[in-house]
This record gives sequence, structure tokens and C-alpha cells, in this order.
Amino acid sequence: MWFAAYVERQYALCEGDAGPMRLKEQHTRAVLGHARHMAREERFAPHIARACLLAALYHDVARFAQYLRYGTFRDRDSRNHGLWGAAILKREGRLEGEDRTVRRLALTAVALHNRYALPASLPPDMARVAWTVRDADKLDILRVMDEHLSGPRPYCPTVVLGLPDAEDQVSEKVLQDALTGRVAAYADLRSVNDFRVLLGTWLDDMHFASSRRLFAASPHVVRLLEGLPREGAYAAARACLLRRLEEVRRESACPGGAL
Ligand SMILES: [Fe+2]
Repeated sequence: MWFAAYVERQYALCEGDAGPMRLKEQHTRAVLGHARHMAREERFAPHIARACLLAALYHDVARFAQYLRYGTFRDRDSRNHGLWGAAILKREGRLEGEDRTVRRLALTAVALHNRYALPASLPPDMARVAWTVRDADKLDILRVMDEHLSGPRPYCPTVVLGLPDAEDQVSEKVLQDALTGRVAAYADLRSVNDFRVLLGTWLDDMHFASSRRLFAASPHVVRLLEGLPREGAYAAARACLLRRLEEVRRESACPGGAL
């Protein structure tokens, strides 16, 4: 498989700690798994499903070169890894054997997967593929964050975006978003607990019934939210988000409505 061989070549070039690259490889495989599940559940046409799988497999292909060259995964301090990934795939002629439409859909989704927002004018099939990769990516970010925040303190500043692990740093905006069903924004975060809340609000940032179900069924998001203080400023948002997850799980168990 090309991806496995490419990744091995990148590991061989790494003179320092290859651990962060291995985490990206693991992340890629998890995102691919989510995308495969979604494409099947949503009954995408075969060429859309194929583009989703290719885009999921290659969405972070530039992360390896990014880490080798710049020692960071921060695009701001290096390069945009979505656009770079599409350029790597073109340079390597990776999608040459694919149908033209599939190639265009996959390359566009790789290039756009890390954009803050997708262009509103995106054609429906392109949007479908890009949303699949973005939802699948977010689903695995829940795992990455849960594994980190369930571990020992202090948290790694890179993982928690440099936010303080301070109970008294509360973003009222993030709490309001959680209580009113809006997706919270990174720019409003003031602490690690705000970050936990933001991750919980991603339920409303899932674009398909299948990704919503996967999200609600994720043990990671439950653990992330249960890690919030039960009392005080976070109590209402914690209860509200956990209740909404439970509602989606109930709907999924009984899709025709209440029995
Ligand atoms: Fe990415």
C-alpha cells in the first residue's frame, strides 16, 4: 500500500523522536475507519464513497513532511498542511490511476479539510466528501483529546493549545454556546475546561446522521464531558451536553420514534 510505504520512508528520514509521526499514522487509520463507516451508512454512490476513502487516507499526508521539516504540526508556524497534502499527492502522481471525478473530489477534500469553514459555493458532491473527512477527523480528535486529558497532568501545551488548566478561567461565550446548541469557537476558549465543552458542542457540527450517531456513541466525548466539574460554572453546560448525547443515542436505538 502506497501510504504505508510513504510513511515508512518518512520515518526513515526522522533523526529525532518519530512518536508524533506515529500518532498521525494512527489518527489517519482511525479517520479512514470512520469515513468508511459513514460512506456505507449514508449509502453514497460508489465514486463518492471511493473519494471519501481516498481523502480520509490522505488528508494528513503532509503531516509527516511538516514534522520532518519544521518540527511542528502548527500550520501557522510552518505551512498549510491541507494544501501541501494535495500538492504531495499530485507530485507523487498518487491519484493518477483514479477516475477523473474521484481524483478531483479527493484532492479538493484533502486541500480543504483543515479550513475554518468550507466555501458556501462548493458543489454538493464535493461538499459531501469534504464534510465526511471533516466529521471523521473530528470524531478521532475526541479520542486523541480524551486519551490526553485522561492522562497525568500537566497537560502537553501543544495538545491543549496552550490553554491554562485553571478552574476559574471560564468563557461565558462557550457556556452560552453549549446551552443554546451552537458550535463553540476556538477563539473563545479560556481554559482546558472550555475546550472540553467545545468538543461536546461538535455534536451540532456533524453533517450526517451516521456521524452524529458515531459522535453520540463515542465513549471519549462522554469521558471528556464527565471530566468537567459537576458544581459551579460548568454544571449546567455539562448536564446539557451529556443529556443531548443521551437523546441522540436513544433516537438511534429507536429511529422510528418512541415506542
Ligand atoms: Fe489535518
